[in-house]
Amino acid sequence: MTALPSRRGLDIRYTSLGVDQFGSKVKVFLSYRLACDALVVNTTLHPDIATLGALVGTWTGQGHGEYPTITSFDYEETVTFAHMGKPFLSYLQRTSSVPDGHPLHIEVGYLRMPSPGIVEMIVSQPTGIAEVDEGTITAADSTSAEPSTSADPSTGPAATIGSTLVLDLHSASVATSTSAKPVTQVTRRIVIDGDVMHYELKMAAMGLDLTHHLSATLHKVE
Ligand code: HEM
Repeated sequence: MTALPSRRGLDIRYTSLGVDQFGSKVKVFLSYRLACDALVVNTTLHPDIATLGALVGTWTGQGHGEYPTITSFDYEETVTFAHMGKPFLSYLQRTSSVPDGHPLHIEVGYLRMPSPGIVEMIVSQPTGIAEVDEGTITAADSTSAEPSTSADPSTGPAATIGSTLVLDLHSASVATSTSAKPVTQVTRRIVIDGDVMHYELKMAAMGLDLTHHLSATLHKVE
């Protein structure tokens, strides 16, 4: 594999020459990092998603997965939230197995805030599953852990230093391809406390009601 000259946020690699639909030779690019990292540009966060600013950056850590139908597992995870000045964040997640490091789940998506305190998250998974999640984003004083009641209604809950930010999302719809495992509902709860992120994910899958699948704690690394 050849790597083109790389700068922060741009890592284009190509493997070989391929042939396009017209029979012409073309370079086959693997733009794995590009989708998310290209959004890391030197610009101000769009005011509509100011509350989501606490998420922007790269986070790494470990998680634990379980479900009644599978063997429990531990994993390493890296997540990047990025923006390009438009009213949305991009989301790129990848995981690997603990202890042997082989790749596990990966997913990509977007977050936006259609109105103050409301968040939408669109997630695409390589297993033939696509989620449209909706919910709330609230700021709580990290000492009281109660949702803030002093938020400015014109801007939504304030993401101030020292506060905890809570995203509570549930799937408005889950689409599955014909070959995908049956998943009918997902909930995601993401808690940001300074440089620490904790999340929990439940899913209704394999004929079961909403049941815990994942929890992880990540730390902001950049
Ligand atoms: C950190 C992210 C995730 C990791 C590391 C992870 C890992 C795993 C592993 C190791 C398995 C068992 C082996 C397998 O069947 O492939 C599994 C099963 C499964 N996961 Fe996840 N997963 C993640 C996220 C998700 C999400 C977001 C969904 C759906 C919303 C999901 C849905 C499923 C389903 C449906 C199964 C199959 C259960 C069965 O066959 O009985 N996973 N996952």
